[in-house]
Amino acid sequence: MRLQDETVAFKMGGVDAKPEDDVAEEVPSSIQRNLVVVGYALTSKKIKSFLKPKLEGLARNKGILFVAIDQNRPLSDQGPFDIVLHKLTGREWRQILEDYRRTHPDVTVLDPPDAIQHLHNRQSMLQCVADMNLSDSYGKVGVPRQLVIKKDASSIPNAVTKAGLMLPLVAKPLVADGSAKSHELSLAFDRHSLQKLEPPLVLQEFVNHGGVMFKVYIVGDAIKVVRRFSLPDVCKRELASNAGVLRFPRVSCAAASADDADLDPRVAELPPRPLLEKVAKELRRRLGLRLFNLDIIREYGKGDQYYVIDINYFPGYGKMPEYEHIFTDFLLNLVQSRYKKRSV
Ligand SMILES: Nc1ncnc2c1ncn2[C@@H]1O[C@H](COP(=O)(O)OP(=O)(O)O)[C@@H](O)[C@H]1O
Ligand SMILES: [Mg+2]
Repeated sequence: MRLQDETVAFKMGGVDAKPEDDVAEEVPSSIQRNLVVVGYALTSKKIKSFLKPKLEGLARNKGILFVAIDQNRPLSDQGPFDIVLHKLTGREWRQILEDYRRTHPDVTVLDPPDAIQHLHNRQSMLQCVADMNLSDSYGKVGVPRQLVIKKDASSIPNAVTKAGLMLPLVAKPLVADGSAKSHELSLAFDRHSLQKLEPPLVLQEFVNHGGVMFKVYIVGDAIKVVRRFSLPDVCKRELASNAGVLRFPRVSCAAASADDADLDPRVAELPPRPLLEKVAKELRRRLGLRLFNLDIIREYGKGDQYYVIDINYFPGYGKMPEYEHIFTDFLLNLVQSRYKKRSV
């Protein structure tokens, strides 16, 4: 059974997309070239999943040209670009981008490297959500109770007791840089086994959520939400009979879409749209990012309590329905609104 309204696209206030024909008229730099030039520095894996022929084709029709950045040549010698799209890691690259931003204030760098850096640590990543402390008539959005362990695994059982954290606990590497290692999560069922974990890590209370999570994709003002299968609930009986540490590498990458599954409606129901709008808008502002996604779960049996458990920069947009249209409109809007700002 295909549930109705399972993926939702909408805009959060802001500037609406202009019809593509209007764009060339309003952006002088693009009139001359008649193109919006987007330089990209992405891994080959990202190029394959994101820069698909459909996206490039649609972009071309709308006057957007994607140009690969050559990392072996100075960035300033390339282009001229209207936008630089990037997802590469490393201190050196960050420095190159920061210098480029300073010397090319007219180019939009998506997104600022230091803002992205914020998401590479699982503690700072969720701090904005915790600070937001969002609660309204549509629900509450928080972060599961968690504890950061920098070193010394033998101290974990006492630290957990002191912090009053309840088992089971999800252990996540503190560093979240997209490497295979950063996705090696485990579930610890008993206090004693906590010593087997390898710091630095974040220990997070496992929240039962009916085995389904929501991926909220954000591209500027646009949001789409999809369901994905997640870890199954752990009941009290299981907790009592299970011991040890269950390792689950790359669970998030393997999670299948749950959009077509025949699910309990209490589990399947998407988070209220106004609540997601608020969260996305607030996080966009606090994080200073325009391209990211959130993993959100709803506590089972507590209709309106939501938890953000993960935030990723420039996620796999290939899995976001209609991302080609959303992304190209977003790029055009960026150039347009920059021009409008300059001409005021
Ligand atoms: N606190 C939690 N409670 C319940 N399930 C969780 C929790 N944290 C993570 N998970 C499950 O583990 C998966 C991976 O966790 P996540 O923090 O998203 O790490 P990754 O960086 O590998 O995507 C999630 O998609 C979800 O299924
Ligand atoms: Mg995740």
